[in-house]
Amino acid sequence: MNNKIITVTSPLLPNLKEFESLLSDIWDSRWITNNGHFHTKLESALAEYLKVPYISLFTNGTLPLITALQALHITGEVITTPYSFIATTHALWWNGIKPVFVDIDPETGNLDPQKIEAAITPTTTAIMPVHVYGQPCRINEIQEIADKYGLKVIYDAAHAFGVEIKGESILNAGDLSTLSFHATKVFNTIEGGAMIIKDEKTKKRIDYLKNFGFANETEVVAPGINSKMDEIRSAYGLLNLQQVDKAIESRHQTAIKYRKALANIKGVKFWNDTPGVKHNYSYFPIFINVNEYGITRDELYFKMKEHNVFGRRYFYPLISSFSTYRGLPSAGKDNLPIAYKMAEEVICLPMHHSLTEEDVNRVISIIIKKS
Ligand SMILES: Cc1ncc(COP(=O)(O)O)c(C=O)c1O
Repeated sequence: MNNKIITVTSPLLPNLKEFESLLSDIWDSRWITNNGHFHTKLESALAEYLKVPYISLFTNGTLPLITALQALHITGEVITTPYSFIATTHALWWNGIKPVFVDIDPETGNLDPQKIEAAITPTTTAIMPVHVYGQPCRINEIQEIADKYGLKVIYDAAHAFGVEIKGESILNAGDLSTLSFHATKVFNTIEGGAMIIKDEKTKKRIDYLKNFGFANETEVVAPGINSKMDEIRSAYGLLNLQQVDKAIESRHQTAIKYRKALANIKGVKFWNDTPGVKHNYSYFPIFINVNEYGITRDELYFKMKEHNVFGRRYFYPLISSFSTYRGLPSAGKDNLPIAYKMAEEVICLPMHHSLTEEDVNRVISIIIKKS
């Protein structure tokens, strides 16, 4: 057995010498947080890179979700997807909002717009979709429904760094979008996140909200929270931004190898690139049909582990099956058959910028041999 451990992800790290040089600037300035030089610089650099009007940095990807709901005064019920990381639904719960789960589209893993209208009630105030794995939601259809019923749309775009449709960032869709810059993500600041904002007034308000609601030294305009990104992580982010394109291209090459090798394996399904979409290759999910493949997803998953290859069953268990949310009227299997099926079939294969040809071949060989 090859003992080298292959993990599902590996953090993109800045060059240590370059980071040390920026740290030394921070030490000299003695300005380590609260809207410092590197924080401002990273906000501008990201707004330009991501082709968005305004961005506000946060300490992680969960707090911008919670803050977006606060900023738009969302109450009552919000329609969302069960096929995501649990933070999506937790953000609703932390705002005292009732999550209403709607099933997903098997072609993208995202909220199915055709099923949204049936879930709208007089207390629905918003839709919170997720661009899962960085696959774009059906943005136009979701917006049409939102406009028809006067609902807000907040996208959890934690996985969608840099994703574009026909040259336009998908982060500009809806009312607000949020990103995660956690170590596991395509672009990371160790821990970190951001909100994408369309106008200057809202940007100002979000900046107040992430700083306890302070508008100035003596005025608090809202019950805010503390979620400011510090100077050290901002500097780290600036360096990582310079190498993120190269990292995405390396992920792309891995996706090409996986697709080529797995194309003819019966019972193993995966998604191809969508024409017109600039993907970020943040994850490589495969879906195992036990009848055709011969062994179950879990059997393959544990077989991979035996060979020191660590995939992840994202997103299993489904959010709606965790004890916290299981009791909700919309959480049942009969309401979410596609999401439950997908959660039972998925394995995300190792996908990061530093996988070698040999690593990828090892992963492929286990899937082909099933042993
Ligand atoms: C879809 C989704 N939403 C939200 C989050 C939360 O981001 P963070 O871990 O940065 O708080 C994650 C994180 O992994 C995620 O995958």
